[in-house]
Amino acid sequence: MDRFRVVGGARLAGEVRVTGAKNSVLKVMAAALLAEGRTTLTEVPHILDVEIMGELLRRLGCAVDYDPDAATVAIDVPAELGHQADYDLVRRIRASICVLGPLIARCGRAEVAMPGGDAIGTRPLDFHIAGLTKLGAELDSEHGYIVARAPDGLTGATVWLDFPSVGATENVLMAGVLATGTTVIDNAAREPEIVDLCQMLQQMGAKIDGAGTSTLTVEGVDRLSPTEHAIVPDRIVAGTWAFAAAMTQGDVTVRGARPEHLEIALDKLHSAGATVEGVDDGFRVVMDRRPDAVDAVTLPYPGLATDLQPLVMALNSIADGAAMITENIFEGRFVFASELARLGAHVRTDGHHAVVRGVPRLSGAPVRASDIRAGAALTLAGLVAEGTTYVSDIVHIDRGYPGFDAQLRSLGADVTREPDPDAPFLE
Ligand code: UD1
Repeated sequence: MDRFRVVGGARLAGEVRVTGAKNSVLKVMAAALLAEGRTTLTEVPHILDVEIMGELLRRLGCAVDYDPDAATVAIDVPAELGHQADYDLVRRIRASICVLGPLIARCGRAEVAMPGGDAIGTRPLDFHIAGLTKLGAELDSEHGYIVARAPDGLTGATVWLDFPSVGATENVLMAGVLATGTTVIDNAAREPEIVDLCQMLQQMGAKIDGAGTSTLTVEGVDRLSPTEHAIVPDRIVAGTWAFAAAMTQGDVTVRGARPEHLEIALDKLHSAGATVEGVDDGFRVVMDRRPDAVDAVTLPYPGLATDLQPLVMALNSIADGAAMITENIFEGRFVFASELARLGAHVRTDGHHAVVRGVPRLSGAPVRASDIRAGAALTLAGLVAEGTTYVSDIVHIDRGYPGFDAQLRSLGADVTREPDPDAPFLE
């Protein structure tokens, strides 16, 4: 187990490039299961979660060739797939639940371990289950597994989601593409990663209308073909670099990014006093003073992403003034506030609201990354803290940020990866 040693004081300046989105690549890897043959993905990020998802697909009978240097994954899907996704992998990445839809659609059965809770909340699966049941699958929970059966195949239906859940939209979509007849998903999620998945499925021969809107209409087809697909850029990683520039009063150009996927986040940085401009293949954020505090509310896309909320809190912790942050997606996300408080931040939480009173400077301390985004936000907070901050449990950061420490160093930060002397012993 490693940790980051972060010495505060650097102003980040230079250029970074983002690769494909974690939250897209894991889903399109699952979508590859829908067609026998070789699907090749490009712009694949070099992160731990891709390796874990690759292992899960191997256990289902696929050959998976992941080349992190070339940023590609080739997945050879056999005619006969296994149908069981085990707990040892599912608990490591929740996104593995998205093999449920493709497995039911391809095999008429699936057994997928229930992922359980994690550091950002309880995260139920009721919308996934209700949606797949609407398409004719029978789902039960047995011995910690969701056991699904659809021996006679799936039949299209209209599915209303109570909330535009990203994961439930993806599972129902991937089940609907091979169902008989028409599936309509109402109140569907509209995230760019959903659009990316729709594009990949369309390339495979799926008939989908309404990608990027709240109503997805899917005409089921008999079979799909393997394809080649480039993953959409990671808007959360790009957004993290934007906040890093604003927090450190820096000047960072982010290439390979789509600013149109980050409109509200970049507008917040503008309100905080940063200059944000579009550049060829990305955007640039320049900040030449202490940021002003900015209120923020997380909402499903196109609202402000909950995954950027820890970054907003970190920015406000050193801003001029006080800000109210409202977290509407994951109630557990404020766990991070107590770690930030260890660095001297003034944060008070009440339910899904947090009030942050900015201080001129944080003060370095040992902190623990509870999830991917909290880990990134704590590392950035360490950069604007006096003295040295040690961020432990950085395995979370490695799950979502390719070469985070190396990229920070290339922008001038004093960040090193070192063995964590206090790491617990693991089996
Ligand atoms: C995905 C992203 C995660 C992001 C989140 C919201 C991946 C791998 N993860 O997670 O980074 O923060 O979208 O943008 O893509 N809910 C239910 N019942 C369900 C499903 C969801 O109540 O059956 C609730 C959740 O508890 C949460 C809300 O709906 O409060 C949104 O969750 P959802 O959009 O499903 O998030 P994920 O797909 O798990």
